[in-house]
Formats: sequence, structure tokens, C-alpha cells
Amino acid sequence: MSEDKAILNDIGKVLGVLVLVAVIISIIAINLVDEDTFSMTALKEKKVLNRIKPLGVVATTIAEAKAASPQLDDATPENLAPMTAEEVYNRACMACHATGAADAPITGDVKVWESRISQGSDVLFEHATKGFKGMPPRGGSPQLSDEEMKAAIDFMVMKSQ
Ligand code: HEC
Repeated sequence: MSEDKAILNDIGKVLGVLVLVAVIISIIAINLVDEDTFSMTALKEKKVLNRIKPLGVVATTIAEAKAASPQLDDATPENLAPMTAEEVYNRACMACHATGAADAPITGDVKVWESRISQGSDVLFEHATKGFKGMPPRGGSPQLSDEEMKAAIDFMVMKSQ
């Protein structure tokens, strides 16, 4: 019996020493890995995430959309409003109709416009949007809406009566 006790005692001592060694090793290990290493890893991870982030994100608020696309600042209702008749005319019609280029009837030339105006606004609209002889469809600006075309034609007619 006493021999058993002695063996148990020895095992206990050995276990104690082993636990002590394990504690010492872990303390040394913790001190070897300093904080810098942790923060470096976090920094690297952030950079990687930044590199592989999706190109586009869905903006769910106006603020997000504005941050993603600064031009939106300009997208006020006034700026999105359709052009006025004069703006359409100046941009898309004036080149020919102010100069008579390609034999275009000059805006303000009452005589030349008289017979054209007498055709009625429907015919003028159809000729101006679909094209008619030297007049290209929508004056060569296909992005113009029917409303913008009507406004520009009314503007020209008004100036030529
Ligand atoms: C590339 C030159 C050119 C541009 C740009 C142009 N026009 Fe014309 N337009 C003509 C010519 C040429 C005629 C005369 C066609 C004919 O009767 O021989 C004409 C005729 C017209 C007529 C009279 C059609 C008729 O039945 O008598 C209207 C209306 C008209 N244009 C509207 C417009 C409007 C609106 C714009 C701008 C959106 C525009 N045009 C841009 C060349 C142009």
C-alpha cells in the first residue's frame, strides 16, 4: 500500500511540473505575439476586403446615392425638366433654320413660312418628326421628345407669322 502511495505521489509531482511548464510556455507564447501583429493582420484584412469589394452597390437612401454619384447634386427637378421651346430650337434647329442651310425655311421669314403654316400644325409636326425632303427626322436629334418637337415648331411658327 505504501508503495502505491509513493507512486501516486510521484505521478502527482510529475503532473504538477508538467502543468507549470505548460503555463510558462503559454505565457512566453503570448508575449511573443505582440499587439502589432494583430493590428497588422486587421489592416491587411481591411485592404484585401477593399480590393475585392463589389464595383457597384445599391444605394437605398438619397444620401448614399449622392455619395456614390456626385452628379446627383445637379439632378434637381428644374435640371431634369424638359428643355424650353427656345432651348430646343437653339440646340437642334437653329443651325439650319437661322441660316437657311440646306434650303431650310428661315425662322422669321414670314413669306416663306406662310404656305408651310397653312398646311396645319399636324402636317408640320409629321414633316418635322418623320423628315421631309431636306428636313431630317427631328432635325437629326432623335432624343427629342414629341413635346419638345411640338414646342420647337410652335416657337418657329410664332416667330414667322
Ligand atoms: C440639317 C438642317 C435642319 C435642321 C437641323 C432642322 N431642320 Fe427643319 N427643315 C430643314 C429643311 C431643309 C427644311 C425644308 C424642307 C422642304 O420643305 O424642302 C425644313 C423644314 C422644316 C419645317 C417645315 C416642314 C413643312 O412641312 O414645311 C419644320 C416645321 C421644321 N423644319 C422644323 C424643324 C425643327 C423643329 C427642328 C429642330 C428640332 C429642325 N427643323 C431642324 C432642315 C433642317
